[in-house]
Amino acid sequence: MRILAIESSCDDLACCVFEGPDNLLAQRTASQEKTHSPFGGIVPEIASREHLNSISTLVKNTLALLPEDKKKIDGVAVTYSPGLVGSLLVGLNFAKGFALSQNIPFIGVNHLEGHLMSAFLEEKKPQFPFLGLVVSGGHTNLYWVEGVGKRKLLGMTVDDAAGEAYDKVAKILGLGYPGGPILDKLAQLGNPKAVPFTLAKVKKGKYFTSFSGLKTAVFEYVRENKIAENLKNVPIEKSKEALDLIASFQKTVAQSVLRLMLAAYEEFKCPRWVVAGGVACNSEIRKTLQEAATKHKAKLFIPSPKFCTDNAAMIAWVGHEYLKQGIHSDLSLNAIPYEKVDLFA
Ligand code: KG4
Ligand code: ZN
Repeated sequence: MRILAIESSCDDLACCVFEGPDNLLAQRTASQEKTHSPFGGIVPEIASREHLNSISTLVKNTLALLPEDKKKIDGVAVTYSPGLVGSLLVGLNFAKGFALSQNIPFIGVNHLEGHLMSAFLEEKKPQFPFLGLVVSGGHTNLYWVEGVGKRKLLGMTVDDAAGEAYDKVAKILGLGYPGGPILDKLAQLGNPKAVPFTLAKVKKGKYFTSFSGLKTAVFEYVRENKIAENLKNVPIEKSKEALDLIASFQKTVAQSVLRLMLAAYEEFKCPRWVVAGGVACNSEIRKTLQEAATKHKAKLFIPSPKFCTDNAAMIAWVGHEYLKQGIHSDLSLNAIPYEKVDLFA
């Protein structure tokens, strides 16, 4: 079954044609990083308008990459939730129109299920059930995953997502958007033990975390030590105080993420851990989780960075699974900006 997949939930627009996890026939992405960087974050209205400008050309160019004997598409998969509603609507409506014009089924895919299943795009694939952690710009969600469409949300951040904290810290240091990759690189030059941040304690329980306290502590540190002012005169690569702060922040985020996974491991004793989403590109998180997995004799599955950040292949993988089972969506499917919270009892 050959599937066209579209992901447009946030600022990236991605399209691919997929015949199975090891057979990604064509893919194209239109990034809006340069557009949003001066704002230090995504401007939703601009994101959806830019998607609208790019989508038909992007899909056409992706289809043009297909060999002559593989041009026929059997189904369409598209992200319908969660995300920025304007951005979601562009991809969703285009996918509906495409499916209608070709008289083929279409399936709406949950973006977070896409991230969780992105581990199957790699050669080394997990088996169900597994403990899954999505760390992205919009979410920090911990799941018990038993299969496609069978997942329970165990807990999450009670305020900022991990990626959001990265982006806001980068913004206050005047470093542009997205902040994660920039801070990750700079963190390598600092001392992670220099600033002793504390891990958040969340009353809701062990599967919950928080990043807003850490973000505020970073902001306070920047203000008290006049770091933003000092950076006007010194390049950040030469500012020991800024580099130490970034390294310490990065270490604390990684420890918070580790703590969530270990809390679930303690309870479920499941030795298969999946970590996905844009923040799973982070070098400290990858290292910290790998060390812990080795220690606990668990297998860690973190996709390569191109499958951690938003991509169409993860949407295609999930859509393919549903369409193979004959499950598809009705053309009346609407975009849903928020994930339905169904906490594990
Ligand atoms: O999954 P994703 O591409 O989009 C969402 O669904 O949100 O994640 C984007 C987030 C951004 O906040 C970005 O700063 C963060 O992932 N990110 C990173 C790294 N690479 C991307 N955060 C920390 N370290 C990185 N290396
Ligand atoms: Zn995402």
